[in-house]
Amino acid sequence: MNLIVAVNEEWGIGCDGELLSKIPEDMAYFKQKTLGKVVIMGNSTYKSLPGLKPLKDRVNIVMSKDTNLRIRGALVCNSLKDIIYISNMCCAEDVFIIGGQSIYEQFLPYCSTAYVTKIKTNSPQKADKFFPNLDAMPNWKLVDTSETNFFREIEYNFAVFENVNKNMKMMITEAQSADLQQILQLQYLAYQSEAKLLNDYSIPPLKQTIGEVKQEYEKGVFLKAVDEEGNIVGSVRAYLDNNTAYIGKLIVLPEKQGQGVGTELMLAIERECAVARYELFTSDKSVRNIQLYERLGYAKYKEQKVADGLTFVYLEKYPPSNSLGNRK
Ligand SMILES: NC(=O)c1ccc[n+]([C@@H]2O[C@H](COP(=O)([O-])OP(=O)(O)OC[C@H]3O[C@@H](n4cnc5c(N)ncnc54)[C@H](OP(=O)(O)O)[C@@H]3O)[C@@H](O)[C@H]2O)c1
Repeated sequence: MNLIVAVNEEWGIGCDGELLSKIPEDMAYFKQKTLGKVVIMGNSTYKSLPGLKPLKDRVNIVMSKDTNLRIRGALVCNSLKDIIYISNMCCAEDVFIIGGQSIYEQFLPYCSTAYVTKIKTNSPQKADKFFPNLDAMPNWKLVDTSETNFFREIEYNFAVFENVNKNMKMMITEAQSADLQQILQLQYLAYQSEAKLLNDYSIPPLKQTIGEVKQEYEKGVFLKAVDEEGNIVGSVRAYLDNNTAYIGKLIVLPEKQGQGVGTELMLAIERECAVARYELFTSDKSVRNIQLYERLGYAKYKEQKVADGLTFVYLEKYPPSNSLGNRK
């Protein structure tokens, strides 16, 4: 599965339901890449197509939660699972995710190649929809970039990124109560490295009981990452209070660490919570975690010594609002 997107310098992709820039050569590139292929889009992107008509000479799939929606010339799908099922029946190379924000975010883990038109304008562009910053994602590598082109005062080039995890088929969904025991075992395993770092094997995540995990499950949002064999390889949870999502226990199976699973889980929990502010904390010794959070746009705002040799670093993130890119 591939994706194709045009982004500005802030990885903005749209505003008020429209594209940010219309560059003839970029439109031609989009057409050349997708012609004769299956294109998957969200209903909002569909509604922004010229004349409200499916794209010609392509198999159009429109995602909507509306089970009564019918679109002449397009297939309507109501869930991610349906799309994965359909796309597994096609040649993966022939399926293109074409936006918008919500669809890119959900399908990013399943894509192997991203065709990204990078656009630079003289005057800043207002955006209210964004694409994840692939430059900051360890599992996405820039493999090709064209020379810089110009359209009027706009500079642009065509970049190609590849997902180094392309062979790892992973699905992130809500955890079920039947998963909690397995998630707790994974938690015990994942926090061993943290305990070693802190030289303390009695840290709270290693002492948490199934009863406490169940309480957290009841209270908030609980996600799991599942590999192609159905094994849980990661999880993250959050609870919401006063328009802030308090995110915690980002855990990844040790042998799957460093492959982007944590990043995907973070993007998924932010999407699920969709609040004005995200907060999390980690130990000041967890340098890799702090780097991951900073790459995802989190900034340190507080440090607190909680015991001898243990200091927590608190990080926060304000998601892009209807302003210029990454804000506060
Ligand atoms: N720069 C680019 O390359 C590019 C490309 C495409 C789009 N865009 C821009 O992106 C913006 C639109 O992005 P968006 O995030 O607002 O909208 P979107 O992703 O195009 O569509 C969102 C809609 O898709 C449906 N949907 C999403 N997830 C679903 C799921 N799991 N199951 C079933 N249905 C699902 C829902 O439709 P229902 O409400 O019907 O349930 C949802 O409201 C526009 O500004 C557009 O111009 C930019």
